[in-house]
Amino acid sequence: MPKIVTLPGDGIGPEVTAAAVAVLREVAPDVTIEEHAIGGGAYEAHGEPFPAATRDALKDADAVLLGTVGGAHDSPWNKLPRPLRPESGLLSLRKALGCYANLRPVRVQPGLEHLSPLKPELARGVDILIVRELLGGIYFDGDRKIEGDTAYNTMRYTTPEVERVADMAFWAAEQRKGRVTSVDKANVLEVSELWRRDVQALRDRKYRGVHLNHEYVDSVAMLIVSDPGRYDVIVTENLFGDILSDLAAVIPGSLGLMPSASLGDGPGLFEPIHGSAPDIAGKGIANPAAAIMSVGMLLRHGLSRSDAANAVDRAVALALRAHPTRDLGGTADTQTFTRAVLDAMETP
Ligand code: NAI
Ligand code: MG
Repeated sequence: MPKIVTLPGDGIGPEVTAAAVAVLREVAPDVTIEEHAIGGGAYEAHGEPFPAATRDALKDADAVLLGTVGGAHDSPWNKLPRPLRPESGLLSLRKALGCYANLRPVRVQPGLEHLSPLKPELARGVDILIVRELLGGIYFDGDRKIEGDTAYNTMRYTTPEVERVADMAFWAAEQRKGRVTSVDKANVLEVSELWRRDVQALRDRKYRGVHLNHEYVDSVAMLIVSDPGRYDVIVTENLFGDILSDLAAVIPGSLGLMPSASLGDGPGLFEPIHGSAPDIAGKGIANPAAAIMSVGMLLRHGLSRSDAANAVDRAVALALRAHPTRDLGGTADTQTFTRAVLDAMETP
C-alpha cells in the first residue's frame, strides 16, 4: 500500500490540501495518508518549521503532498531568525527529499482558452514544461549576509548540479516535442556561462535527438507571455525559474492553475506553486485546482498511475468549464469546485 505524507501548512494550504486529499482518496482508495506539520504552524506547535516527526515520516513515504507555507507580510513569523521562518521549513523539506528538479507544466486545456487573459490565438494549445533547478543557486548555497547598509547573497552552481537537472529536462523533452530552451544570463553572469556550457555539453554527449537553444532570461520574460507557443521544455536555475513560472501562470489564467512536481533522489514532492494567500485564507474561496492537479502529477510521477492521473486532469478541466472559481472571474468557492471535480470523475 503506497504511503502518502500530506503537509497542509499555513494560510490556504490546509483548504486546498483538504480538497486535494478528497480527490486522492476517490481515485486511489488503497493509499495510506499520513498528515504532518510544516511551516509557521509547525513552528508554533513544535518550535521549528520542519519538525523531527515530519522528517521521520518522509523515510518510508512514496510521495509527499504539500500545501503552502508562510504568513502575511506583517506576520510575526517574518521577524524570526531566518532558520525558524516558515519558508526555511520548505527549503529544508526540499533538501531532505533531494528533489533537485521542479517540473511546472503550463497548459491551456482545450475549451479553457477563455480563462486566459491572452488573445485566444496565443493561448490556444499552450503546453510548456518549466524545469526549475530547486536545490542550488542563490536561494541555498554560499555566503549570505545583511549588515548595516550592505547585504549580499551568493549564486553558485557546480557542473553536477547543472547536469542532473538538465538531464531531467532532456528526458522530459524526449517524451514531448523534443525541444529544450535553456534560460540564463550568460552575457553578464559567470554562473550562467557555466550553466550554458554544461547544458550544451550534455546535449551533445547524450541527447543529440533533442533540439537545444539558449535564451536570456529577460527576453524569455517577454516572449513567454507574448509568444508562448514557441516553447516546449524550458530549463533554468532556481531564481529565474521561480520568477518565470509565476509569470507563466498568467497564460492559463491564475496561479491557482499551476501544479508542480519536484523529483530527484527520494520520494517526489507535489505542490501548487502559489503561496499561502493570506489575503483570502480562511474564507473558503481559494482555488484548489493547482493542488488537485498536483495530485494528478503525484499519481503520474510518484505512483506511476497514469490512467488515474488522466482522470483527475479531465475532471479538473470539466469543473473549470462549469464552475470557475473567483480568481478566474467565476463564483465557485473551494467546496463547490471540489464537489464538481469529484462529480466529474464519476461521469464516464
Ligand atoms: P501568493 O501566491 O500567496 O498570493 C499571490 C496572489 O494570488 C494573492 O492575491 C492570492 O490571493 C492569489 N492566490 C494565490 N493562490 C491562489 C489560489 N489558489 N486561489 C485564489 N487566489 C490565489 O503569494 P504572496 O502573497 O507573495 O505570498 C504569501 C505568502 O506565501 C508569503 O508568506 C510567501 O512567503 C508564501 N509563499 C509560499 C510558497 C509555498 O509554500 N510554496 C510559494 C510562494 C509564496
Ligand atoms: Mg514562487
